[in-house]
Amino acid sequence: MNQRELFLQHVAQTSPEPMGLEIVKADGITLYDANGKEYIDLIGGISVANVGHRHPKVIAAIQKQLEAYLHIMVYGEFIETPQVQYAKLLTDHLPPSLGCVYFTNSGAEAVEGAMKLAKRVTNRTQIISFTNSYHGSTQGALSIIGSEYWRNAFRPLLPGILHLPYNSIDALNSITEETACVIAETVQGEAGIVAPSNEWMQALRKKCSATGTLLILDEIQTGFGRTGRLWGFEHFDIVPDILLLGKALGGGMPLGAFVASQQLMQELMRDPVLGHITTFGGHPVCCAAGMAAMKVILEEKIIDSVQQKEKLFKSLLIHSKIRAIRSFGLWLAIEFDSFETNKKIIDACIRRGILTDWFLFSSSSLRVSPPLIISEEEIKKVSFTVREILD
Ligand SMILES: Cc1ncc(COP(=O)(O)O)c(C=O)c1O
Repeated sequence: MNQRELFLQHVAQTSPEPMGLEIVKADGITLYDANGKEYIDLIGGISVANVGHRHPKVIAAIQKQLEAYLHIMVYGEFIETPQVQYAKLLTDHLPPSLGCVYFTNSGAEAVEGAMKLAKRVTNRTQIISFTNSYHGSTQGALSIIGSEYWRNAFRPLLPGILHLPYNSIDALNSITEETACVIAETVQGEAGIVAPSNEWMQALRKKCSATGTLLILDEIQTGFGRTGRLWGFEHFDIVPDILLLGKALGGGMPLGAFVASQQLMQELMRDPVLGHITTFGGHPVCCAAGMAAMKVILEEKIIDSVQQKEKLFKSLLIHSKIRAIRSFGLWLAIEFDSFETNKKIIDACIRRGILTDWFLFSSSSLRVSPPLIISEEEIKKVSFTVREILD
């Protein structure tokens, strides 16, 4: 059997039509398949490869850590330098109230840990999230995602969850002194790049503070420069009580985190002790890789050109078949009239060496979420090709 047949036979399939590309190498913004065909990556592993694939500094950091140790102990017991140094770097670039990092394996595990922490801190059980939000696929995260289609097949899920319309000021009245936490994506990704108003974000922050509810912002896709700032919440002039990170956090290695104040985080130490346990969370190789990637973002000032590149994409992607473009930084949803049209365009893009897909809750929108290092020349090349396809 060839690789493709083995893939279909022995690797669990989650969709009847997987993309099925056999990628043998990745470098910068380019993926190479087994036939030597090149693809410009507009997906970036779903907002993971912000510094590009296999950045030399990330590879060097991984290699250095390989020489020292791999897994040595479950999370939280040993002083592991990659974790300590990365937590310090992250918190140096966050407001003082976000001074303590719990590293996990994934975004969904960060969501789970944060919901548990909110329950412990507030002694409340109600959790509020929003329509069309995506927070992961474990049962806690699934309970709060904003799509009945995805939730329904797996009931019973967590009780006490309320889903509100995103960006509705009136709906915020449902946040009360019974609410443990509100979880929101700072900008909704899988809804097809939907940004809230400044007014709503500020009202949300205010309502949470007034009711003693913890505000959890999910920046698993918006973090690390995707929106044109290091963190998405900087655009709205608010600070969450708990911040969720993942995806680009690991520089291409699996890593998630929830970040809160030292005071809040201490609740995981008692009644019961070990309030959240993870064997591999904060794996030293992943922390070393993630820290190197974050340093690249900061030192090479990669975020400075994000908004300019967003503008360039928007100025070039003008065509009668495009219904709308929603964007926030180097993160664009190009909307067509239907899923069928979008799918045809995506398939044609892939044939022409441009890798893209659609959004989970916006199937008529094409995803543009490339490595932030994509050059203006590459943006022009991609945009011209997309326009040719549309013609
Ligand atoms: C906003 C958001 N939150 C959480 C998650 C879950 O992260 P993971 O797939 O690492 O569990 C995702 C993944 O796409 C996401 O986009």
